[in-house]
Amino acid sequence: MLNTSAPEALRYQSGFGNHFSSEAVPGGLPVGQNSPQRHPLGLYTEQFSGTAFTFPRAEARRAWLYRIHPSAAHPAFQRLERQISGQQQGPVTPNRLRWNAFDVPVEPTDFIDGLIALASTSAADQAEGVSVYVYTANQSMQRAFFNADGEWLIVPQQGRLRLITELGRLDIEPQEIAVIPRGLKFRVDLLDGQARGYICENHGCALRLPDLGPIGSNGLANPRDFQVPVAHFENDPTPTVLMQKFLGELWATQLAHTPFDVVAWHGNNVPYKYDLRVFNTLGTVSYDHPDPSIFTVLTSPSAIHGQANVDFVIFPPRWMVAENTFRPPWFHRNLMNEFMGLIDGAYDAKAEGFMPGGASLHNCMSAHGPDNATAEKAMAADLKPHKIEQTMAFMFETGKVLRPSRHALECPQLQSDYDACWDGIANTFKPFETDSQR
Ligand SMILES: [Fe+2]
Repeated sequence: MLNTSAPEALRYQSGFGNHFSSEAVPGGLPVGQNSPQRHPLGLYTEQFSGTAFTFPRAEARRAWLYRIHPSAAHPAFQRLERQISGQQQGPVTPNRLRWNAFDVPVEPTDFIDGLIALASTSAADQAEGVSVYVYTANQSMQRAFFNADGEWLIVPQQGRLRLITELGRLDIEPQEIAVIPRGLKFRVDLLDGQARGYICENHGCALRLPDLGPIGSNGLANPRDFQVPVAHFENDPTPTVLMQKFLGELWATQLAHTPFDVVAWHGNNVPYKYDLRVFNTLGTVSYDHPDPSIFTVLTSPSAIHGQANVDFVIFPPRWMVAENTFRPPWFHRNLMNEFMGLIDGAYDAKAEGFMPGGASLHNCMSAHGPDNATAEKAMAADLKPHKIEQTMAFMFETGKVLRPSRHALECPQLQSDYDACWDGIANTFKPFETDSQR
């Protein structure tokens, strides 16, 4: 149902990787210690860890929660009849794949009902890899959820979302993203009646800002622009269904109360949001464009030095000024595996066929690049400074092959003729007559 009332404007804390503190009621945060014998307000103390206790301090993530009921107070979870669409893995294919936009269903569908598994690098019990989902929804969740299989990077493409989490509330809209830590309970309210977007489930090391190297101490996504919620709680005895995803399967239990009852918290294992429109986009001011790693917003390192478990990369509006340069993304074959989506507008490598809400997958060593129409136009272009506007594409780039789900390979959105965009590219070779041949 369309919610026509303006949502309450939310407040946030600023920064990335900070040790944040927030209390919705004065005195909610114990002073000088984490776990007093009796909390002054009668709250229960709970630690929420995102890394092993023994992780190096600079990478360790945990938060202390002060709540009305401890999370442990729940009956057994039961496996749900209705599971996420498309979890079954399809046959492996080296082919390039592209999908049309996924429609929002007509029947009542909340954020969890509307999940479709598109591809996965590895089983959810592995300590690395990613799984990729699209979501569609037309109803706010009347239940709570947490994901035991990894953190979620949520990329809305259509419709604003209000994420009610244990640590507070976040509003995100298309061209913003949110990251929900592994295990954090949340529910999703729709602020525009329907919603569609993408999710990267990261089974590996938590996402972080990339190193900047010679770029220096500023640029790309600046830490100050990340936003973290303030404590917000419900003191509601209404029974609430709590779902979880555990090793890819949905389970549920019934709580005697809301799980969003955290009155105060501190720590760095927190949900956060970021507006892609404030990304400080860097690029060439001479010739050739840099590798797209220059557009990395967040990265999860892998055990292989220098190779990401996953990079979240965007292709935002930007000036193109390179001289004597083929300006679109060049033709390429990469070790890394590329899942792409389009949030808004058009992507500069494709004249048609890659649409907002759609997706493409180019796995390890599959050759791709601009389609014929784009390549021909780029080679003929008058290279004046030109601003690419009304665009926001993104890539989940992984070190492991993304295996499409059976659903992804059988759904009507899969384009049967994607390869055709490179059919019949002109042979423009004109051999020079060199001195030695004269
Ligand atoms: Fe690519």
